[in-house]
Amino acid sequence: MALQLFVTDLDNTLVGDDRAMAELNQQLQRLRQSQGTKLVYSTGRSFTSYQTLRQEKDLLTPDVLVAAVGTEIYRDNAITPDPTWWDHIQDLWDRPALETIALAFPELMPQPSPEQRPYKISFYIKPEHAPGVMAQLDASLKAEGLAAQFIYSGGRDFDILPLRADKGSALEFLRQQWQIPPVAVVACGDSGNDRLLLGSGQHWGIVVGNAHPELLAWYHRDGQARHYLAQAHCAAGILEGLRSLGFLAP
Ligand code: GLC
Ligand code: MG
Repeated sequence: MALQLFVTDLDNTLVGDDRAMAELNQQLQRLRQSQGTKLVYSTGRSFTSYQTLRQEKDLLTPDVLVAAVGTEIYRDNAITPDPTWWDHIQDLWDRPALETIALAFPELMPQPSPEQRPYKISFYIKPEHAPGVMAQLDASLKAEGLAAQFIYSGGRDFDILPLRADKGSALEFLRQQWQIPPVAVVACGDSGNDRLLLGSGQHWGIVVGNAHPELLAWYHRDGQARHYLAQAHCAAGILEGLRSLGFLAP
């Protein structure tokens, strides 16, 4: 089976080992040219913060950038997000009301304003406070008739997103538009916001060897045969996974 769609998180997944990333980039360019493989970067970063990373690292130009934890889709190097995705995810999303309720929790410290996005409200929280605050916040939202999903990543970042928007649902949206079967898709990640990127749908997944405890816990609890846990870190782990899954020659 040829690799038709390759989706990867950036920080500490694709990015983190410059030499291995250069080798992976070469392999991906080859696959794009010979097989038309589509390349998608799926990051928690805002579009602005992604531009900063692009200036620092030798990234390829992807077919699509999924930014802000799946809530924004930028196609073909566009600088504005796809409005059809926003139409699709805005169901039940009431940003001002959600923000007001979340700000009442002193354990939730707002992230800097560039990371606050139309469909993403982001905080920092200490790991020891996370489970309790999530349960209480969930109860407060329900009491107000509101709905949202919570994503905890890297033992530090706490994102509030629409129910229909995360890295996994953005991947499914693109995969269906491109009519690519799950067996021809690989997604890679290292932290909590990659759980749905790897776990929703039926495609292959690579967990890099340096993954955060929250993603490893998910892998050990819910991982399937289609998920590969690499020994190597960052892009070297991706190369290891692609070889093991048979998408690259050993
Ligand atoms: C990125 C974003 C941050 C988010 C985190 C986890 O670091 O910049 O806002 O909370 O990913 O999704
Ligand atoms: Mg990451």
